[in-house]
Amino acid sequence: MADGSPGWTEKQTDGFSEMMELLHIDVQDQEELEGTPERDPAHCSKNVLRKQRHWQRQLAAKKSRRKEEKLRRKLNREFAPPQQSKRVMKAITRERLAEARSSGLKVCIDLSMTHCMSDKEVSRLSAQLRRLYGSNKKALQPFHLFLTDLREDSRLLSECVRMNAGFLDYSMEITQQSCLDVFPAQSLVYLSPDAEEALDCVERDKVYVLGGLVDESVQKTLSLCRAKELGVRVVRLPIDEYMQKKHNDKNFHSKILAINQVLDIMLTLCETGSWTHALSKWFPQGKGYVVAPHFQDSISPDPPLQCLLPENKIC
Ligand SMILES: C[S@@+](CC[C@H](N)C(=O)[O-])C[C@H]1O[C@@H](n2cnc3c(N)ncnc32)[C@H](O)[C@@H]1O
Repeated sequence: MADGSPGWTEKQTDGFSEMMELLHIDVQDQEELEGTPERDPAHCSKNVLRKQRHWQRQLAAKKSRRKEEKLRRKLNREFAPPQQSKRVMKAITRERLAEARSSGLKVCIDLSMTHCMSDKEVSRLSAQLRRLYGSNKKALQPFHLFLTDLREDSRLLSECVRMNAGFLDYSMEITQQSCLDVFPAQSLVYLSPDAEEALDCVERDKVYVLGGLVDESVQKTLSLCRAKELGVRVVRLPIDEYMQKKHNDKNFHSKILAINQVLDIMLTLCETGSWTHALSKWFPQGKGYVVAPHFQDSISPDPPLQCLLPENKIC
């Protein structure tokens, strides 16, 4: 027994006084806030003082975080452009996508070659489709998207449904048919990095086809062969025409892009009418190419919006 506390061991009594000291810190903090004088540190054990200092530091940090947050919110309120509510933005997006489905430029993803891909590639393709759809959704003038040759029992469809929330409700056409069953051959323009002809103008009455392929195990010329098999025109992005190689340590240069990157370039081309703008904005830096210097002057930070609808061509 210790200290006149009936039935308590010395250890219990120590624990009790430690607890009382800690409780005192809370009380002291309240006193500090209310302006009462500080407790004399000479009466505190080292441990309690350490905890007290820690607690005070935390309190000060919390106060300053709150202050910063308040200031940030105030600045946001004062300087942010007036924002549309989420509901209004959703309605605008829905309307744009619906309009694209009736009169937008048609872009088709040919998914007939997934049997050439590993599970990992299929999974990456499904992620690229999600990004591609996300870009299209955000665009001012979205495209009318078609996924062709997407088989009901395919690994790709299962992966898309598993990984891409709401995939089956995406505002696009999904079909098991091939692009040739859906569109006349003369309207199809297949994009392939291995094509000879460079794409110059985008025409409203054409359907631009991207090969649903992921280049992990680099299967060269697959999309070129597919376009030849379909007997349709095949073009590449005009990278040689507008860009030049940029020195890098690995001496790596590639003109092969993922489908979502190609779509980003085409969306910007159609919005601005400028290849240099579209390529400089979206061509990935790590691919070892930059827009050639003599074109760079023509890149305006704010290119005028091109209205695709009344025109038949965007060059
Ligand atoms: C990752 S690439 C596939 C590359 C693959 N080796 C092939 O044979 O097409 C995916 C698709 O994006 C399009 N693409 C990628 N880079 C391109 C480029 N430089 N020019 C035209 N199309 C391109 C093509 O439609 C291509 O099939």
